[in-house]
Amino acid sequence: MAKTRLTTLSRIPDGGFAEAEGLVDGTLESLVLHRSGASVRAWLNVCPHAGRRLDWAPGEFLKSKDGLLVCAVHGASFETVGGECVAGPCRGDHLRAVAVEVRDDEVHLL
Ligand code: FES
Repeated sequence: MAKTRLTTLSRIPDGGFAEAEGLVDGTLESLVLHRSGASVRAWLNVCPHAGRRLDWAPGEFLKSKDGLLVCAVHGASFETVGGECVAGPCRGDHLRAVAVEVRDDEVHLL
């Protein structure tokens, strides 16, 4: 059985982001995780604008003062519920969501 544990909840700052690697459709992918209280959302760490990673260094993500996830390459800004780009060069596009769940303080791929 594939290992599905990505990280622990406490390693993701509340309202912030963290990076983890997990198998998605059989491929090891970098993921961006966003925590809001006890819930976590995840997307592929791939910007829909030019296909680059969103972080400026591994696991280091930019956050706007409004809490948006900001791509470090050209500044596209994504809301953290649906992963929609709300400002920048790929406005209206979405990050690719990855299903995760929190179990016993651990974040797992579904
Ligand atoms: S690659 Fe993210 S805004 Fe261009």
